[in-house]
Amino acid sequence: MRILSGIQPTNVPTLGNYIGAIKNFVKMQNENQDADILVFVADLHSITVPRDRKDIKKNIRSLAALYLASGLDPNRTHIFIQSEVHEHAELGWVLECNSYIGEMERMIQFKEKSAKEGASVTTGLLTYPCLMAADILLYDTNLVPVGEDQKQHVEITRDIAIRFNNKYGETFVVPEPMIQKSGARIMSLQDPLKKMSKSDPNPKGYITLLDDINEAKNKIKRAVTDSIGIVKYDTVNQPAVSNLMTIYSSFTNMSFDEIENKYSGLGYKEFKEDLSEIVANELTKIQTKYNEIINSNELDKILDEGRDYASRIAYKKMAKVYKRIGLGRY
Ligand code: AMP
Ligand code: TRP
Repeated sequence: MRILSGIQPTNVPTLGNYIGAIKNFVKMQNENQDADILVFVADLHSITVPRDRKDIKKNIRSLAALYLASGLDPNRTHIFIQSEVHEHAELGWVLECNSYIGEMERMIQFKEKSAKEGASVTTGLLTYPCLMAADILLYDTNLVPVGEDQKQHVEITRDIAIRFNNKYGETFVVPEPMIQKSGARIMSLQDPLKKMSKSDPNPKGYITLLDDINEAKNKIKRAVTDSIGIVKYDTVNQPAVSNLMTIYSSFTNMSFDEIENKYSGLGYKEFKEDLSEIVANELTKIQTKYNEIINSNELDKILDEGRDYASRIAYKKMAKVYKRIGLGRY
């Protein structure tokens, strides 16, 4: 079985990315001893909207180091940078020619992001799901662990794979999304109806994995709640507290019932104090390891190995795709 996923190197990953995606990669790695696991830095994806060159460079390395700091083990998981395996862009093109503008325009993420970009929406923002489909289909991926917001992109990947297989003969494995039951959509600390996002203009709404520890604690303590005053998991009437409970539960493995019992009769203050310590501990662990890795040669060795491993698989698949379609001489 093969498991694959990636994250865009835009800004620093948030607690949402961590709980919805990275922690899940680590869990899958630890629970599936015979699976072949690939996790990459989706740098080609990060240029669908304008980015500063220096920022991109910094974020690519930083994300790779955060994968390792979060518990991805290079002996188990191949970590690589998307643009270093050129078949991603190549297959992306082929898939663009086997998908329809209408289905790209229906993607929720495209609708949201293009509304923000106004007149300067790039073609890449529209065709992005084809590149994501290429990332997945190049490797005969069976399972794709992602947060809730990427489900639609995995579904279109399935449609494209099935369509290609029908047209050209069996070529791609049809993948399944892997979305956790809890934590797949962590909300903003300032607005529980909005997804926690690293591009939120209000930094109080999110915590990144590299935030200053005290600042992160304060963000939890100042997170919005409600006037009900009872620690209870109720996403309809108490969405903000429920969101904080999701973070709590994800870091302690306690169930919502257990958390409710622990804080019954107590107010939000105690609950938030404890949560701020829990988050601080988790961030401290990650940051300590991150600082050891970020400037090491070890990181480059791991990324070289990952690139070489991924390239061997991608090369073979691409040759097969061209052959099926009739491109080139062979
Ligand atoms: P992105 O930051 O868009 O590259 O997302 C990387 C991964 O994190 C994807 O699997 C997303 O689904 C996941 N993700 C992003 N934001 C959140 C969030 N607020 N809650 C849970 N998962 C998220
Ligand atoms: N599109 C994903 C995101 O924005 C990142 C991504 C790119 C990805 N290619 C992928 C995730 C392939 C899983 C599999 O979060």
